[in-house]
Formats: sequence, C-alpha cells, structure tokens
Amino acid sequence: MSDISDMSSFWSGWVTVIVLGSIFGCAWLLWVTRKSQKFDSETEQTMGHEFDGIAEYDNPLPKWWLVMFMATIVFGLIYAALYPTLGNYGGLLGWTSHNQWQKESDAAQEKFAPLYAELAARPVEELAKDEKALKMGQRLFANNCAVCHGSAARGNIGFPNLTDHDWLYGGTPEKIKETLKNGRNAMMPAWGAIIGEEGVVATAHYVRSLSGQETVDSTQVAKGAELFAANCAACHGADGKGMPAMGAPNLTDGVWLYGGTQGIVEMTLRNGRAGVMPSFQQTLGDEKIHLVTAYVYSLSQAKE
Ligand code: HEC
Ligand code: HEC
Repeated sequence: MSDISDMSSFWSGWVTVIVLGSIFGCAWLLWVTRKSQKFDSETEQTMGHEFDGIAEYDNPLPKWWLVMFMATIVFGLIYAALYPTLGNYGGLLGWTSHNQWQKESDAAQEKFAPLYAELAARPVEELAKDEKALKMGQRLFANNCAVCHGSAARGNIGFPNLTDHDWLYGGTPEKIKETLKNGRNAMMPAWGAIIGEEGVVATAHYVRSLSGQETVDSTQVAKGAELFAANCAACHGADGKGMPAMGAPNLTDGVWLYGGTQGIVEMTLRNGRAGVMPSFQQTLGDEKIHLVTAYVYSLSQAKE
C-alpha cells in the first residue's frame, strides 16, 4: 500500500513496538497478578497502608472489570490485525484513510457535478447576481484564496485588494479567469545597481509626486522624471498609469501594492519585486474557476 508505506523502517518498528508492547504489557500484568484474582476470596484483610483513617481491602479485581480488561486486550489484537496500526503493516482489510477520503471526495464530486456543469454553462455576469452561485464561489474563495487575499478579499501588502476596481491585470470576467487559469508572475526589475542609490532616491520622489504626495523634493522630482522616462515608462507608461498586459501597476492613483512611503518605494526600486499569483487550473478545474471568477467579479461590481 504505497500511501502508508512511506514511514521509515525505524519509525515503523518504533510504532509496532509501542502498540504490541502496550497490549502484551497489559496481558502480562493480568497474568502476574492472577493469584489475587480468585473471585471467592473476599477478605477483611487490608493492604496495610492507611491515609487519614482510610484503608484498602486486599481483595481481587471485580469480575466485570477483569472481563472488560481481557476483552480490551482481545479487541486490541484484532484491531491491530485488521487496520494499519503497526507502522508500515497495511492491515488485513486494506483500509487506509487516504482511500476513505478519496471515496468520500468521489461521492461528493458525483453529487455536485451536475450542479457545477449547469452553473458553468451560464455567463459570469449572470452568476455574479445569483445568490446560490455566489455562496459556492465564496466558499471556494475562502478555501483557496483567503490565505493570501484575506477572507474579505481586501488583500494585504504584496497581495492585491480584489474589491477596489483597481486592477493590475484587468477586472473583466475574461481577465480574471485568465489570472486564475494561468497564474501571474510579475517582474519588476531591480534598479539599485543600474541607476545607483541617488537615482533610486530621486525616482522614488518622482513616483510619489505622481499620486500627488506633497512631501516630495522638487529638485529630486525633476531628476527622477528623467530617469523615469528613460527606464520605467516602457512598462509603467509615459504617464505612469501602468500597463495591465504585464501587471505593471498604475503609479498615479494612490493605491499601493507594496506601499507608497519614500522608504518603501525606494526599497521596491532598489531590489525589484516579483509577485506570484499561482495557477489554479490543476487544483480547481474549469467549472470551479468559473464560479470563483463570478464571485471575484461580483466583489468589485457591488460598489458601482
Ligand atoms: C499564494 C498566494 C495567493 C493565492 C493562494 C491566491 N492569490 Fe491571487 N494573487 C496573489 C498575488 C501575489 C497576486 C499579485 C501578483 C502580482 O504581484 O502581480 C495575485 C493576483 C490576483 C488577481 C489579479 C488582481 C489584479 O489586480 O489584476 C486576482 C483576480 C486574484 N489574484 C484572484 C485570486 C483568486 C480568486 C484566488 C483563489 C482561487 C487567488 N487569487 C489565490 C497571490 C495569491
Ligand atoms: C519590465 C517592466 C518594468 C519596468 C521597466 C519597471 N517596472 Fe515597476 N513594476 C513592474 C511590475 C510588473 C510591477 C508589479 C510587481 C509585482 O506585482 O510584484 C512593478 C511595480 C512597481 C512599483 C510598486 C507599486 C506598488 O503599488 O507598490 C513601483 C513603485 C514601481 N514599479 C516603480 C518603477 C520605477 C520607478 C521604474 C523605473 C526605475 C520601474 N518601476 C520599472 C514592471 C516594471
């Protein structure tokens, strides 16, 4: 059974020793104390110790208790033989938790397949208004996306807010779906070694002036504007409004993926950035991607 035989032989042996040792240890304990287990031998004799006036009779185990003890030992041995309890030993029944999970997941798949197929045939714009479809999309989002984008999809540093109309790659159903199917690899090169530390500081001043920040130094802004035109406009556009085809953000709108303070913008320029959105084609498949797309699409529609 390949899915359980990946324990090393040391740990497999260790588990086996503990399981069998416990069962046979209990059996041994019953055996060595068997002399005191004659059921008709109730006495008034005590064990000889006393605490606060309380003493203990030297009597055998109650019969029902002893029988249960033995039954437990027998049960333990049978269980160990049937199920994969002993390290890499698979058990006579061939049961594994993985098979069980697979069976349940296949059953769920079969049950929901017609529903998914029906929903997948309807356009995203329509599903984005369908209560039931949105609930399913939201559940998929909670399980697959919330770790990075947050449970309310508002994002975090480095993880875009999906509710704000501000899109790196585009917010149409087609673009969202493309993002989910293929994933996205953003490439913002590192500029520290190319334009130097002074260039980084000046360009950061210029970038911050684009979104109307007031705490910028005008001589730095003038110097930065030249560097920007020469180095950055190719991706971010001459006006700094970004380029969705490559996920280069709009730098003029005051919405920041990594942060808009002088220090953070300098850091972005010096070291570059490489945000990765994973592809969900393998994990979710077409029909579920269609549903999550509708959910994500609905988030930014709601506020219009
Ligand atoms: C491992 C973290 C991670 C997970 C999980 C993840 N994302 Fe992302 N996602 C990102 C990052 C990072 C970006 C931004 C990539 C970049 O910097 O260009 C992104 C970008 C996006 C975008 C593009 C936003 C825009 O402005 O164009 C969408 C849409 C999106 N994610 C939706 C989802 C959905 C839906 C899921 C779940 C199915 C998901 N993401 C799961 C990290 C993640
Ligand atoms: C090859 C294309 C390319 C070039 C050239 C480029 N950038 Fe970028 N830039 C990007 C991409 C793509 C991102 C998004 C990175 C991510 O999502 O991880 C980005 C991100 C940024 C950010 C972060 C924005 C935020 O919201 O936090 C800033 C600031 C920035 N670039 C400024 C510049 C400046 C200034 C230059 C020129 C010195 C420059 N970029 C050159 C593609 C480029």
